[in-house]
Amino acid sequence: MHSFAEVDPFYKKESEMASIETDGLTDTYCARCHTPIGVVSGEIPPVDGSGESDIAKRGVQCDFCHTVSGSAGIGNAPFILTPGNIKWGPFADSSSPYHKTEFSDLHTKAEFCGMCHDANHPINDLPLEATYTEWKAGPYSKEGVQCQDCHMTPGVTQFEANPGKAASMGPKRNHIYTHYAVGGNAFITDILGDKTHRDMAIERLQSAATLVVDAPGSAEAGETVTVDVSITNSGAGHMLPTGLTEMRQMWLDITATDANGNQLYRSGALDADGNIDPDALVYHTVLGDADGNPTAKVWVAESILSDNRILPRETAVEEHTFTIPVDAKDPVTISAKLQYRSAPQAIIDYLFDEGKYDVPAINMAQASDLIDFGSDDDMQTPQAESTPGFGALGLVGMLVVSVSIIQRKRYGWQTKKLK
Ligand code: HEC
Ligand code: HEC
Ligand code: HEC
Ligand code: HEC
Repeated sequence: MHSFAEVDPFYKKESEMASIETDGLTDTYCARCHTPIGVVSGEIPPVDGSGESDIAKRGVQCDFCHTVSGSAGIGNAPFILTPGNIKWGPFADSSSPYHKTEFSDLHTKAEFCGMCHDANHPINDLPLEATYTEWKAGPYSKEGVQCQDCHMTPGVTQFEANPGKAASMGPKRNHIYTHYAVGGNAFITDILGDKTHRDMAIERLQSAATLVVDAPGSAEAGETVTVDVSITNSGAGHMLPTGLTEMRQMWLDITATDANGNQLYRSGALDADGNIDPDALVYHTVLGDADGNPTAKVWVAESILSDNRILPRETAVEEHTFTIPVDAKDPVTISAKLQYRSAPQAIIDYLFDEGKYDVPAINMAQASDLIDFGSDDDMQTPQAESTPGFGALGLVGMLVVSVSIIQRKRYGWQTKKLK
């Protein structure tokens, strides 16, 4: 994603929209993280890329990161660049026939990433992206686990050594940091034809969380039951999800089915337009504009209306309550899937032509549990067996959610056109 940061069509559309709506005020602000070379070389603005050299189009690339000689802090890209023949990196003993080398402790620390992986609104200082701050406040920073340990080694959720050489004539080392820098983006990687990074993003999402479904062991047909589903952020060093969290969406898709295959309960399905069931709880942040209305446009954001994401190593529990129809067949299976997508389909349809891109929903984790009916197996009637789907008619479903914030407001872009 670093190499795509400037050509990413999602970023391109949004930054051009921001530029038009703010008369260019956001141009160098956005580009400083997405194409730092484009900004320091004066090729941005314009933001449409028409004045850009090839190297600026390469986004966050090798020579940028390795000419960072220092940092003035965290957030909004306060890097200090010293372009030229010296390359800064993590080894104190490296020598190259092509360029001079300088050791940089900064490159081995999360503070290097924190320059760009914290973004604050440049006028009102609202935290728009806070991955570094979330990591800093959480358990991993206290244990000394850096961003690099999970994002630049084969380990995904912890450091895993990758012995090798950094250059063909260099010494063999105990560890060479990989540069995949994979997050959860299986959407743009796929659009840009990069199946390797798409598959790695899916693998990473599938390492991030664990799910447990806890249904009452036994119940009777006709009874109202409560099922607890817990989601634990077991693998991410920051909140789940993190980054561009006014766009990212994580939610549970839950079904209860009886032994005849009749669906007794459903929450979290996608409709034909790709909208998430409005009764489902979506884990993300909702930004508010000057009037306190929800907005997905970071440049007009003045507040955070809600944030129900899951802290590192913490668990969120959702309670789902429904009534088992009297004619349901024993046993009832409750299955839950944790879903993630990079953006709401409605926003991508709005930014691009409708139907141009399908935002994939990635299955991060799944779990299930059974409800057995006492010993009284003949509760169910032959009629139900001969009439598929009949059981569902008896359903009285109700969703109760017991996580900290109940969030039902939808995105500004989903309901009104703002252009
Ligand atoms: C996002 C910034 C970033 C980009 C882009 C980047 N690097 Fe690195 N690179 C790093 C960091 C950070 C380390 C050190 C990680 C550590 O020690 O914790 C590193 C380490 C290295 C090393 C030392 C060996 C190793 O991998 O541990 C070499 C050589 C290197 N990078 C070359 C490159 C080349 C070539 C490219 C482009 C293909 C590149 N880097 C792109 C940040 C970057
Ligand atoms: C110059 C700013 C900059 C620095 C420094 C930087 N990043 Fe990034 N990073 C970005 C941008 C911009 C993107 C998003 C590109 C996009 O989505 O189009 C990104 C994307 C990522 C992603 C992929 C996210 C996804 O959704 O899949 C990961 C993971 C990541 N960075 C990790 C790191 C780590 C770890 C470091 C430190 C070694 C680091 N970055 C340093 C700017 C930076
Ligand atoms: C303990 C391992 C671990 C550490 C430490 C860690 N991450 Fe992650 N990161 C993950 C996992 C797993 C995911 C995938 C789940 C998700 O999207 O949150 C992820 C996702 C991401 C994403 C993509 C988020 C999205 O949904 O768009 C970014 C960006 C990112 N990490 C940056 C960082 C930065 C920057 C740091 C350090 C401040 C860091 N990570 C520290 C494991 C880690
Ligand atoms: C301080 C650095 C920084 C600034 C400033 C910044 N971004 Fe980003 N942007 C990032 C990082 C880091 C990511 C990746 C986070 C993640 O994966 O969730 C990102 C991701 C994105 C994405 C998601 C791309 C995708 O493929 O999913 C969009 C869209 C985006 N930025 C738009 C903008 C716009 C528009 C602006 C200016 C108003 C802006 N950014 C300013 C660092 C920055």
